[in-house]
Amino acid sequence: MEILKYPNPMLFQPTSSVRVFGEELQILLDEMWETMQTRGGIGLAANQVGLSMSMFVMIGPDNARLNLVNPTIETRSRTFANLKEGCLSAPGDFVTIPNRAEWVHVLYDDEKGNVKRVLLKGLYAVCAQHEIDHLRGVSFMENKSIPKSVRKGLCKRWGIK
Ligand code: CO
Repeated sequence: MEILKYPNPMLFQPTSSVRVFGEELQILLDEMWETMQTRGGIGLAANQVGLSMSMFVMIGPDNARLNLVNPTIETRSRTFANLKEGCLSAPGDFVTIPNRAEWVHVLYDDEKGNVKRVLLKGLYAVCAQHEIDHLRGVSFMENKSIPKSVRKGLCKRWGIK
């Protein structure tokens, strides 16, 4: 799969909920996983590969493969992670986003449509928040908690107004 780069308009459109579970969905998730691994990413949202579907793949704790379909953040810590993050749609740029929670509980459907919940901490939590933003059509570099000068530089570099 090809990874879309900023400022591709697809990256700014909120994705649609996934309603049909089955082999075709599994194939898409498998292809996303391979694409993510080939590019050395730790997470990849469906709209980054041109699919308007609310789902992402990520490497979880103990190198587990996580498929998160229709994810929502249920609860988040009031403490912050303060870790650098990057994006396969903006390769080479890394930034600390001050308002990322240190841990999150994510409610999601697995690839078979079973409702699940996972607690993610640290880098895993930051990754999930980044990917869920993607699915809402929100880019990490527009995050208002980033110092304005840094944010403006990033947005300018990637053609975001
Ligand atoms: Co990204």
